[in-house]
Amino acid sequence: MSENILEIRHLGKSFGTHEVLRDIDFTVKKGDVISIIGASGSGKSTLLRCVNLLETPSSGQILYHGTDVAGRGVNAPEYRSHVGMMFQSFNLFNNMSVLKNCMVGQMKVLKRSKEEARQQALKYLEKVGMAPYINAKPRQISGGQKQRVA
Ligand SMILES: Nc1ncnc2c1ncn2[C@@H]1O[C@H](COP(=O)(O)OP(=O)(O)O)[C@@H](O)[C@H]1O
Ligand SMILES: [Mg+2]
Repeated sequence: MSENILEIRHLGKSFGTHEVLRDIDFTVKKGDVISIIGASGSGKSTLLRCVNLLETPSSGQILYHGTDVAGRGVNAPEYRSHVGMMFQSFNLFNNMSVLKNCMVGQMKVLKRSKEEARQQALKYLEKVGMAPYINAKPRQISGGQKQRVA
């Protein structure tokens, strides 16, 4: 049986009287790639924001490796060093190169050395076809390319 990374149990979220999420239930196992598809305004971003602790669920549980992270007493910065989120508006640093954009978070948040951050950045930039653009600034690449850098 493969390991459960994330378990969403009976998750609900309302903004005032507007119920956006009701009884959402799914499990993400190690190695899974999951797509959440729905009409604009149906609650996809709200769901992901709940998983990243950017919104507080109104009901239900979010279990990360079996621990409920929606409850009190969770160290949010520590949790977010394991659970990443890429936003629709990706906000790259315009004054930094593609490579530097991919290094800075690793160094500041994950406390990786400059060299390790560089190696990781190069590995993943290569994987998404962005190796030829490592010295480009965000304004010199397309929207889709920026999304890949993010
Ligand atoms: N902070 C908020 N306050 C009030 N309503 C919100 C807030 N965030 C999202 N909503 C509402 O929740 C619904 C779902 O939004 P969202 O999760 O962004 O949808 P999706 O990402 O699927 O397009 C929308 O009706 C939106 O107006
Ligand atoms: Mg959205």
